[in-house]
Parts: sequence; C-alpha cells; structure tokens
Amino acid sequence: MFLTNLQTQEEMCVEKYRYYAGQAKDEDLKDLFTRIGKNEKKHYDALGQLMQGKIPSVSAQDTAADTYESVGKYAKGGRAADKKHDAFLCTDSITTEKYVASAYNNDLFHFASPELRSVLNSIQTEEQNHAELIYKYKTANEMC
Ligand SMILES: [Fe+2]
Ligand SMILES: [Fe+2]
Repeated sequence: MFLTNLQTQEEMCVEKYRYYAGQAKDEDLKDLFTRIGKNEKKHYDALGQLMQGKIPSVSAQDTAADTYESVGKYAKGGRAADKKHDAFLCTDSITTEKYVASAYNNDLFHFASPELRSVLNSIQTEEQNHAELIYKYKTANEMC
C-alpha cells in the first residue's frame, strides 16, 4: 500500500513537471523541469518494479546538483512579470519536493528489506536533489 501511494505521488510529479515545462516562460527553466520530470518517471517505474518484487537500480548521481548551472537570464533585469510567474513555479515545485521527500523518509521505516530501503533512500536523495537544482536556478536568476 505504501508503494502504491508513493507511485501515485510520482505520477503526480511527472504530470506536474510536464505541465510546468509547458508553462515556464524561460527556456532554461523549461529544460530543467523537463529533466526533473524524466527523473520522476524513473521513480514511477522503479516503484512499479518494487511492487513486482524486483529491485531496480537507482543512482542519485543522475540528479546531482553540483554540476548544474543556470544561464540566469532573469538576473540581467527586465521581464518582471515573466520572472514572477516562473519564480512561483519554482517555489511551488520546491514545496512539492519537500513533501515527497518526507513521504519517502516516513515510509522507509515500514520496510524490512534492506535492498528495498536502499532504493527508497536513493529516490529520497534524488527528491532532495530536485529541490536543490530548482533552488540553484532561483539563485542564478536572483529570485530569492
Ligand atoms: Fe520522484
Ligand atoms: Fe522530485
């Protein structure tokens, strides 16, 4: 049941990032949302495998934020309305990531299998990475 709930949450994340990639005004942010959305789809698939008793390989390396850099177009000034609009999408996404990461953290304790816990742990790290990527975008674009 926990896995089903987590998977429903991932499905929502996939939809949300697809929608936000369409809504974002800045190309750089569209790309970031698309990138994260693809990763949410991986989470969705990984949970599906877990439900079938398989152990998928999830590496949090894919989403490591240390190599990410935004062009930071909004930092150059102008386009105030677009900037405000995109800042809202970022803040909302970070809030979702915090919520999802805490759901993984809570649900982790219900599972006895160390392999399964390790997969959920990696996914949780990736959710934190998603928030960090968006936070880096916001900082580069002086949205904070
Ligand atoms: Fe996810
Ligand atoms: Fe996420």
